[in-house]
Amino acid sequence: MTGLEITGLTLELNGRRILDGVDVSAPAGQVTGLAGESGSGKTMTGLAVMGLQPAGSKVGGTVSYDDGEVQVADLLSLRPGALNRMRARRIAMVFQDPSSSLQPMLSIGAQLTDHVRHHLGLSRQAARTRAVELLERVQVPSPEAALKRYPHQFSGGQLQRIAFAIAIACEPKVLIADEPTTALDVTVQAGVLRLLRGLTDDLGLAVLLVTHDLGVMSAVADTVAVMRHGVVVEHGSRYQVIREPRTEYARELVESLPHTPPPGTGEPE
Ligand SMILES: Nc1ncnc2c1ncn2[C@@H]1O[C@H](COP(=O)(O)OP(=O)(O)O)[C@@H](O)[C@H]1O
Ligand SMILES: [Mg+2]
Repeated sequence: MTGLEITGLTLELNGRRILDGVDVSAPAGQVTGLAGESGSGKTMTGLAVMGLQPAGSKVGGTVSYDDGEVQVADLLSLRPGALNRMRARRIAMVFQDPSSSLQPMLSIGAQLTDHVRHHLGLSRQAARTRAVELLERVQVPSPEAALKRYPHQFSGGQLQRIAFAIAIACEPKVLIADEPTTALDVTVQAGVLRLLRGLTDDLGLAVLLVTHDLGVMSAVADTVAVMRHGVVVEHGSRYQVIREPRTEYARELVESLPHTPPPGTGEPE
């Protein structure tokens, strides 16, 4: 399978088991939702895959990566330099707060062009062209003018689009998006979810979408893994998990869903 395969992922911190053997497959070209209540270990799973777990954590299990061109049997056993290269080029991350991927004191243009010049070795002119292309791809209006502006001059939804532009700048194959729409209001949320879906399809990304909100899942995910207390208790198609949950816990999560899905993103089939 091309994509990301997480097998038996464990994480121990200060003698506490936070992840207790997480198994999730995130195939290329699909959005794999990682759902579950707050504190169930969703964020830690994403961080551990990237080698970004808190200092002092003991991590076990394997995470295999395959994009059809590069295969890594276990990301967790890469040396720091090799892992950094994977993070810079092949695996990207988007967080709940877009400002965590952006510097307040630099224009959007400077940040995008620095990023692609540094990682792709582009000339100043080529980097600028690429920056405009990226802003067009994430549907930020007037890309040329947007390059000159600073983060505080954009709305939350536009900033999250810019964070996606930076994330896809080096053409990664895996994207981990941790609650990317949680801080946005519902109408803006729908647009960002449509963007995420479009990027997944067009770029063939393997997306791991972390959310506590099954409404978000039902809008974009192909498959859903439900976590509880550091383990995946249910993993299946969106239809199966949402309409025919096998575990009581998944059933309760589904029942706590708002009845109206975000507008314009479609209902679960
Ligand atoms: N930096 C940290 N140090 C110690 N414990 C943490 C840290 N971050 C998270 N935890 C604990 O790990 C567990 C899982 O957290 P997290 O992965 O953030 O959950 P979720 O994203 O599902 O809400 C929680 O019990 C949380 O308290
Ligand atoms: Mg979290």
